[in-house]
Amino acid sequence: MGKIIIGEKAGFCFGVERALRITQESREQNQQPVYILGALIHNPRVIADLERQGVKTISDLKEAEPGGILLIRSHGAGPQVFAAARERGLKVIDATCPFVRQEQNYAQELQRDGYQVLVVGDPDHPEVKAVVDTVEGDAVVVNPAQPDQWRTKSFKPKLGLVCQTTLPQEKLAAVVEALLPLAKELKIFNTICHATRERQTETAKLAQEVDVLLVIGGKNSANTRKLVEIGAAYTPTYHIESGEEINPQWLEGKKIIGVTAGASTPQSQISEVVDWLQHNYTGGITMENQVTNGHL
Ligand code: F3S
Repeated sequence: MGKIIIGEKAGFCFGVERALRITQESREQNQQPVYILGALIHNPRVIADLERQGVKTISDLKEAEPGGILLIRSHGAGPQVFAAARERGLKVIDATCPFVRQEQNYAQELQRDGYQVLVVGDPDHPEVKAVVDTVEGDAVVVNPAQPDQWRTKSFKPKLGLVCQTTLPQEKLAAVVEALLPLAKELKIFNTICHATRERQTETAKLAQEVDVLLVIGGKNSANTRKLVEIGAAYTPTYHIESGEEINPQWLEGKKIIGVTAGASTPQSQISEVVDWLQHNYTGGITMENQVTNGHL
């Protein structure tokens, strides 16, 4: 008999739930159009739902009609964005995740105290860009994937470090080890958020208990991709956005199917995949339809 095990931490984190709630309240309580600069979360289905409700995702402030509302997403934004929006006559509602705000505050504190601010993470991620903007560009992004870009740089003797909230702990540890010989003083704010740590730890554990792991979430979601990377170290792991993407061959001969999801994946999307598995799986095992998750 086969079974499905769903990670208990799968799905929306606190910051994403909060940003969505603030967005919906802004929509309901105001007559003006609501705009978001960049995708609210990295989940195309949620963005399409919001568009249907009249919340417009824009890529440039010029697309927003003056008098409208600009919602700052959970990834945060630099002070320049807040100022430019107000200058354009937009009311700004800030849905920056409090953990991201804390990361920004630490970066400013390090800058004030004379440290070379280092932001460990993906230089193209909006959260990282916003932290750099918060210290007016006075920061170096340390990309764990490309150590050659920063190992040979000459830094100030005092290094102060914050990191992308979704960074896996081992990547932070590897960067710290590489920086040690370069610094007289190294101050670290471990800004990896607990939601990320919990999901990543749970994914590693789940991947060791199952024969195949399905990770649900936007293909552009960094935190979902990290769960895929973690799962793949232990078991065949596939990144999907919906049940239709499942190739039945992945499940052939597999007795235990693990399902988890990134922090930007709604429960409805997880339920759809589980339903798909329950109705479409016709492989070599019998589905027991055993779902071990409290919130479905
Ligand atoms: Fe915030 Fe952590 Fe989610 S930083 S947006 S609670 S992944």
